[in-house]
Amino acid sequence: MATATAKATSALLHPFSKASKPESEFINIVRAEGSLLFDDTGKRYVDGMASLWYCQVGHGRRQIIDAITTQMNQLATYNTFDPFTNDAAIEVADKIAAKSPHPDGRVFLGCSGSEAIDTALKIARLVQQRRSDGSRQIIIRRTHGYHGTNFGGTTAQGIEANRDGWGDLVPHFMEVPGDDLEAMATLFAEHGDRVAAVVSEPVQGAGGVHPPVEGYLEGMRRLCDQHNALLIFDEVICGFGRTGSWFGAQTFGVTPDLMTFAKGASSGYLPLSGVIISRDVANELEDPDLILRTGYTYSGHPASCAAGIANIDLIEEEGLVERANHIGARFTDGLGALKSDGIVKEFRGIGGMWAADVGRDSIPLRDKMYGMGLVVRGVGDALIVCPPLVITDSEIDELIEGIAKVAG
Ligand SMILES: Cc1ncc(COP(=O)(O)O)c(C=O)c1O
Repeated sequence: MATATAKATSALLHPFSKASKPESEFINIVRAEGSLLFDDTGKRYVDGMASLWYCQVGHGRRQIIDAITTQMNQLATYNTFDPFTNDAAIEVADKIAAKSPHPDGRVFLGCSGSEAIDTALKIARLVQQRRSDGSRQIIIRRTHGYHGTNFGGTTAQGIEANRDGWGDLVPHFMEVPGDDLEAMATLFAEHGDRVAAVVSEPVQGAGGVHPPVEGYLEGMRRLCDQHNALLIFDEVICGFGRTGSWFGAQTFGVTPDLMTFAKGASSGYLPLSGVIISRDVANELEDPDLILRTGYTYSGHPASCAAGIANIDLIEEEGLVERANHIGARFTDGLGALKSDGIVKEFRGIGGMWAADVGRDSIPLRDKMYGMGLVVRGVGDALIVCPPLVITDSEIDELIEGIAKVAG
């Protein structure tokens, strides 16, 4: 058992961090504007990760702050458990449904991606319990998948290190290698009548930015249809313009039965997440004898929903969905040049999310980039970028030049 080597100077326990790391070694962000961050020493950073894959509209947007303030002055908080509702929750749900492939569907609201994914898994199991004799419980997950850290999402992850050490997770999950459709077909052939759902990100994000191989998502949809399984797309990163359409489902032309969203839904100004539910699944839930016995205290929180409405309006007004394609073209050119020069081995991505394979452990390179005032992530051999969709061309070039410097 490791013992603390340095005395903590704060009670704050950081997520995905060593609890032994002293507070003084963290970067204290005190201010942000657009795609720029400033720490407590006044140092400037380009936010190449939109915080944590979420700040589509950039930092410091008055329109969202004002919308939250207006909402809070009128109704700061109230719940949406039966019999209560509020205008902001209704409006944001309707807006999100309208942008999605399920305009006639329903939208469940929560605060975090983890809440969204656990709710989607529960709804899939619920519907399949009703449609079968109770035997359809298997959830198929993909290697490299990331689905948050509640027990359902932890179990659904295809990142082994994140599943380890917590004791028994949720039963009836099975894993297939990330892009191997044959393996999924084999699993369906063996267990098809017991599969409730497949869960997949359209583009795997936190696992290292892995776009699907040609035909993979379509094949997954086909297998689900053949075996009466539900398809869940986890759009927590891909949603709200990140892949060059409102949702990854639209970018790849594959329609899932359930879609989770979070992050870009409110650009993180206040926590907002949810699940978009197809009409077919909604019909099942709308059985007058059924009570949906799941939900969160802050489901439909009016201030979060006001942030979501203003954020969606901004994305629309500023053409940020299309802007993701421009960002993609610039990273393709920039990282392509680094590949031609032999500085990076490979690169992959789409729209506003990219990975540069540097052919060695990326963490020391990421740390060097922090030192240079450039925020990126490191996953295995890859440096990852996923900037605000308002990032300027010159800020994109700063990120690419930074990668060239540390990887060259
Ligand atoms: C695809 C995906 N699903 C779920 C989550 C979990 O979201 P949260 O951290 O808001 O619970 C994340 C977070 O990165 C994610 O990328």
